[in-house]
Amino acid sequence: MSTSLLKKAYDSSLFKKEGTDLVNQISQYLSDTTFGKSEKVITWTTPEDEYHFWKEYISDTHTTSDFFKTVIARSIHTHHPKYIGHQVAPTVPVSALATLLSAQLNNGMAVYEMGAASTALERLIIEQFAKVIGFENGDGFLTSGGTLANLTALLAARRVMAKDDVWNEGHSSKLAIMVSEEAHYCVDRAARIMGLGSDGIIKVPVDDTYKMRTELLDSYYDSVVEKGYEVIAIVGSAPSTSTGVYDDLEEIYAFAKAKKVWFHIDAAHGGAAIFSPKYKHLLNGADKADSIIIDGHKMMGTSALATAVVFKESTASYATFEQKAQYLWEKNEDADWFNLAKRTFECTKSMMSLRFYAIINAYGVQFFDDFVTTLYDAGKEFGDLVKQQEDFEIALDPVSNIVCFRYKTSTGDINLVNQSIRKALLEDGEFYIVGTSLRGEFYLRTTFMNPFTTRTHSLRLLNLIREVAKALISVS
Ligand SMILES: Cc1ncc(COP(=O)(O)O)c(C=O)c1O
Repeated sequence: MSTSLLKKAYDSSLFKKEGTDLVNQISQYLSDTTFGKSEKVITWTTPEDEYHFWKEYISDTHTTSDFFKTVIARSIHTHHPKYIGHQVAPTVPVSALATLLSAQLNNGMAVYEMGAASTALERLIIEQFAKVIGFENGDGFLTSGGTLANLTALLAARRVMAKDDVWNEGHSSKLAIMVSEEAHYCVDRAARIMGLGSDGIIKVPVDDTYKMRTELLDSYYDSVVEKGYEVIAIVGSAPSTSTGVYDDLEEIYAFAKAKKVWFHIDAAHGGAAIFSPKYKHLLNGADKADSIIIDGHKMMGTSALATAVVFKESTASYATFEQKAQYLWEKNEDADWFNLAKRTFECTKSMMSLRFYAIINAYGVQFFDDFVTTLYDAGKEFGDLVKQQEDFEIALDPVSNIVCFRYKTSTGDINLVNQSIRKALLEDGEFYIVGTSLRGEFYLRTTFMNPFTTRTHSLRLLNLIREVAKALISVS
């Protein structure tokens, strides 16, 4: 017999009341942040202070409304136009609503009957990606984030390319992958998870513009093969995370074809540019890749996590895993597209396709073009603005919405001064920007993620950095 507590927990009118209150709170959050009404992007607390705050908070009882309100107040506000930090999209509200629906329906997605609508929509979104990329026989699935997506694609590469059947018999040969030294760390991590070790990850240097030096590929390949390695894949970054620079995908393809290695593209950040007539040229050559991954929660406005793994050949999308799970499906050999756990790392996963389709349903795929094009334009405009300032220097001309720059100073160590600026900005909370190290030098790093960030915000950021720098220098 169900208890009164259970009845209360599942009460639909309580849900309506608390849900309406939450929607009102989120609506207020959106109106406070989106056009910059609220003063701060982040209210900084140290990790210890935050832990103690919540420890005390949970020792008392609070309404659901108060709990949600407190979480909003104590979280970073990605919808604020002064949020120009890490590559996480300010979720399009309709995508957040789809995520709420997914969370409440909790369809498990491992097999068709555990998510009929979302499974069919997942196939449709992958078909949409395959079409714009230019894969005639493309196929794939959605998975939980770019990190897992890269690992999944590289496991497929190993399954298809390696002479050994590593999946069933373990390693006997030495395998390697090639990647730019500027690639996201998750590619290195994927290779290590696959047992390639540090010697199996061949990091190719970048040129002055931070692109992989493709003229070095042959010599790097020869020397690794001489050491007894079998190169299974090369990974292009589209773009790499620190600088936002796209590798030359056509050149990488030419190498991959000549050496018969798998060509994978990590387009977690910039794959969405394929929807932008203005910027899709950055992805020239993507149609020749064997696999490509694109994050929805970066440059497509979906809530996290939602990543597409798209393969040029449908059969390859089934290559990664081969396991029997009698309780889920009877025969592993069947390439049944609708039993998604055969192809994804996850067994249970969320109904990610809803996050994309809620946007497409409401605004069409045109939304993705508007989003990416606006943000890439903003990055370039900010780059031009920085170059006009005598007391700032830019690390490189931006090609996307990622801009690395720093305050110039003749007083003190330029790296330490800029590190202190970044820390002071974080603690101040008016803006959120991050930092990165390029060739051993520290730079401030902005990623324009909010389509409502304007030149006025950018000018204010530069002035704030000046004020902070002067204050720092005067006390040192
Ligand atoms: C190029 C690139 N690849 C992969 C990732 C990891 O993606 P996720 O955070 O979705 O796991 C990132 C994250 O910033 C990235 O920039």
